Amino acid sequence: MNPANQMHHDLYERSFRHQAEHGEECTVFPSPQAPLWATIASAMSVTRVLEIGCGIGYQAACLASATPECVVETIENDPVHADLAQEEFERLGLSGRITILRGDAESLLPNLDVPYGLVVVDAGIDYDEWLPELTRLTRPGGVLITSNLAGKLPDWDPRLPTEAMMIVRAQFSY
Ligand SMILES: C[S@@+](CC[C@H](N)C(=O)[O-])C[C@H]1O[C@@H](n2cnc3c(N)ncnc32)[C@H](O)[C@@H]1O
Repeated sequence: MNPANQMHHDLYERSFRHQAEHGEECTVFPSPQAPLWATIASAMSVTRVLEIGCGIGYQAACLASATPECVVETIENDPVHADLAQEEFERLGLSGRITILRGDAESLLPNLDVPYGLVVVDAGIDYDEWLPELTRLTRPGGVLITSNLAGKLPDWDPRLPTEAMMIVRAQFSY
């Protein structure tokens, strides 16, 4: 394993250890799809990424490593997670390219205004109301990735699984 992948892997493992230690309410489930989203970001030469749900930073670290110029803003409302993530980003040498936006997504999203090439939502299941903001913040030609949205879309086939499903929605520019 190359050193960057090893560091990401270690952070993935640490995220699960944190979850076990933090208690039943803790929702830090590091995203196993993060390397795939980073590959998409790399293929698209994305320079700005927005993540909702930082946890202790696994996915944001993967996304920031997508390209040398990639900057990531990541929203987190749990101060314990935000503090741990900040420590991780400093340890990984990524704190210059990852900014943690502390607070609740619902109140922070309307204040963001620069469209992002990639928007990744990884913060629970109750975010239907954020979709207009998420779409606004995804630049034309960008990609919005949502977790756990399956079953909430009006045309979703009920025979398909409703949990832990990732949907990739390209917002085309024509
Ligand atoms: C599934 S974890 C994120 C995992 C992370 N993306 C990773 O790969 O390790 C969800 C995170 O979203 C945060 N969160 C949940 N609801 C939120 C909200 N409304 N606003 C901001 N953060 C939220 C939780 O505190 C938790 O840290």
